[in-house]
Amino acid sequence: MSAPVSTELSDYAEKLIRGRHATRAFRPEAVPEDTVRAIFSLAGAAPSNSNAQPWRVEVTGGARHARLAHALRSAHAEQRVSADFPYSEDMYAPVHQERRAAFGAGLYSALGIGPDDHAARAAYDAQSLGFYGAPHAAFLFVTGDGGPRLAADVGAYMQTLLLAMTAYGVDSCPQGLLSFYGDTIRAELGTTEGKLLMGISFGYADASAPVNRVVTERAALESTTAFHA
Ligand SMILES: Cc1cc2nc3c(=O)[nH]c(=O)nc-3n(C[C@H](O)[C@H](O)[C@H](O)COP(=O)(O)O)c2cc1C
Repeated sequence: MSAPVSTELSDYAEKLIRGRHATRAFRPEAVPEDTVRAIFSLAGAAPSNSNAQPWRVEVTGGARHARLAHALRSAHAEQRVSADFPYSEDMYAPVHQERRAAFGAGLYSALGIGPDDHAARAAYDAQSLGFYGAPHAAFLFVTGDGGPRLAADVGAYMQTLLLAMTAYGVDSCPQGLLSFYGDTIRAELGTTEGKLLMGISFGYADASAPVNRVVTERAALESTTAFHA
């Protein structure tokens, strides 16, 4: 097999795509408004089926963001969960569970939490509703009927957004956990449109936090991808 022909853009793409990592400890500084606008404008270039763009995006910062973090912690303490998209551990195949376990082991070891310390893990989950200290979050809602085909479009938007953030030097963490609090988020932001797929915390990484040095592996190419000729 010959070496791939790289281009100027492929070199950037390698850096951009492999340079994005989930950040779980942020510094408090806000992202300048012009940068936030540039990022979300770029993310809007994401593809979607027939260009329907079935996303509704709510971005938080400042006092509203702080109030939302407080409301989320209260909802968690009072067990007021509301997931617009159903969730079950059964959706994962055994191979997915193995990968999840390997990821969890790396994460909790970086946090200094032992494998059987369920109380510390639960406390960490509660704490993560504070956006890991990030000064902003984006909430991605699926509009229309909110079905799986439209959710796939919003998934494409999500990854485009994460890469746009990386390109502008902004760190992020997609947090499925936030999607369990749709009613709280809607009430705090005064929105009614769409089903909540995902929340993304963003800002600038705290480079000194060990949790930001967790390395995740990927499955071998051949185990997920077949090439037919
Ligand atoms: C749909 C989705 C939901 C996620 N939910 C969470 C979450 O609730 N909390 C969290 O800390 N990370 C969450 N993540 C981040 C993943 O754990 C992370 O992307 C994965 O382990 C690969 O690591 P990397 O992003 O650093 O490459 C989520 C990522 C995606 C794409």
